[in-house]
Amino acid sequence: MSSDQEGRAADVRPVGGFPAVRMRRLRSHARLRDLVRETTVTPNDFILPLFVRSGSGTRTPIASMPGHDQMTVDLLGPEVDEISSLGIPAVILFGIPERKDATGSVAWADDGIVQQAVRAIKDRQPDLLVITDLCFCEYTDHGHCGIVNDRHGRMDVDNDATLEILVKQAVSHARAGADVIAPSGMMDGMVAALRSGLDDAGFENVPILSYAAKYASAFYGPFRDAAESAPQFGDRRTYQMDPANGAEALREVALDLAEGADILMVKPALAYLDIIRRVKDAHPDVPLAAYNVSGEFSMVKAAAANGWIDERQVALEILTAIRRAGADMILTYFAKDAARWLA
Ligand code: PBG
Repeated sequence: MSSDQEGRAADVRPVGGFPAVRMRRLRSHARLRDLVRETTVTPNDFILPLFVRSGSGTRTPIASMPGHDQMTVDLLGPEVDEISSLGIPAVILFGIPERKDATGSVAWADDGIVQQAVRAIKDRQPDLLVITDLCFCEYTDHGHCGIVNDRHGRMDVDNDATLEILVKQAVSHARAGADVIAPSGMMDGMVAALRSGLDDAGFENVPILSYAAKYASAFYGPFRDAAESAPQFGDRRTYQMDPANGAEALREVALDLAEGADILMVKPALAYLDIIRRVKDAHPDVPLAAYNVSGEFSMVKAAAANGWIDERQVALEILTAIRRAGADMILTYFAKDAARWLA
């Protein structure tokens, strides 16, 4: 059968001796490109991280994250008005407390910094979804993500002791009005403990967004300045994942799902696009978030400030790639700018 008879002669017309499929045909017009685009990014996909600190009337710029500040609760009003008006559906809160101790005990105080911030935001913008990051690294004087003990001659985070205080922290966030709880500490059994703790306290409708596959990544550097949460000794490699492992992420994710996670997360995003894709393929029916972390943001900002790349185009390309890899939603410091660019 000749190609003419098949009615698609132009697809197979020989060019330079080779049959050419004219892929460029669908790229020939901007509106056509719009029609055939496979991946979309909209402000509706974004979750914006906010850093809240104790005190009043102060906005402290975070040097390594241009455009982001640590803010006191009293200044959140106009900020969340702007976020809502940009069509961004959610924020995730990180608290920097006044006082740190060995167990991070202010983390579960009903008048703690995150609890106050949740109330203030829900008061001002009830429709804005408030997610709280659940971890201890900002609250402990040693900067680790839980209770540290001498474990058979080695200082390490005590998994099960930490679960108990994570539950207290989660319940106090929920009591303050948090819409979603996002545990980021990579403790084993954390989702199961939180689900039953939240249910027992009457918060069976509060979803858990689990940082299911969170890697021990150097890309968190700027965040640790922002949240004042760098470990004072050692590192997080006994609880966060080894960047070399992929199959292990699937085990982490399967466990969190079995324990009752409602939304899964892969973190960081850019160097882990393969993990995002594998998790999405393994669990296509479960909502998946990816965290476009601080270092990924700061690299773009720094290069753009030097005039080496076009910030807007690079940021949108990155966000598109994260969505294309399989993320349904993206935690990103670009949320406000990207929402403006996409408007
Ligand atoms: C808390 C937490 C961290 C981040 C989110 N939650 C830091 C860490 O694990 O050290 C990093 C976010 C970012 O880099 O943007 N455990």
